[in-house]
Amino acid sequence: MTEEESPVPGFMLDGEELPFEPGETILQAATRAGRYIPHLCWHPEFRAHGSCRICIVKVNGRTCASCTQQAAADLEVQSNTEEINAERKMLLQMLFVEGNHFCPSCEKSGNCLLQATAYQMGMEGPHFEEFYPDRPVDASHPDILLDFNRCILCALCVRASRDVDGKDVFALGGHGIASHLLVNSASGRLADTDMALGDRAASICPVGVILPKRRGFAIPIGHRRYDARPVSEQVEGETP
Ligand code: FES
Repeated sequence: MTEEESPVPGFMLDGEELPFEPGETILQAATRAGRYIPHLCWHPEFRAHGSCRICIVKVNGRTCASCTQQAAADLEVQSNTEEINAERKMLLQMLFVEGNHFCPSCEKSGNCLLQATAYQMGMEGPHFEEFYPDRPVDASHPDILLDFNRCILCALCVRASRDVDGKDVFALGGHGIASHLLVNSASGRLADTDMALGDRAASICPVGVILPKRRGFAIPIGHRRYDARPVSEQVEGETP
């Protein structure tokens, strides 16, 4: 075998060697290989945001976000361990109590990445005290409803509107616990933007914040994406 033909050494993910392309992150390489690493704010179409921390792994013993950590030869990566999954579960529980996530009444139930990831991590209850925030719903747009109560601040709509639609309809504002999703118009209302139902930002939300009007429950709960198979078995072809 010539030097050019020598296989590039991969990295170890939970004891199995995984190949990677130059420039790929650990999460990208794992996804390409059909290996599940839990995540919320990462999406294969967009640059990583690194904010939710659900994708944490241990790399040579050090905790980091797999969506931003570059893959490199000979890294020892641990992901599916009791300790790391317990941390993910705690982060999920904090997300659930910080917003209002009443799954049985949410149009996104069964198609929601937050709900599916919580099931995957064995989350059976919120554990922490609920905040019950009171965030007004924006129903001003003729075709799109915004329910900020379910926002997990993944910024996928921000990135989709800016990078794909070229509209900058959304932004994140505030700091820490006061961080929140904003509509970029003088009034702060969606009706006063040029957002349209066909925009990428209108379909990217992994939870139930951005919803089309007049299309509720077209597919019954029980027959939706994550009702059929758990999120860990749907690693490839990932789209919301
Ligand atoms: Fe990596 Fe959110 S998926 S930090």
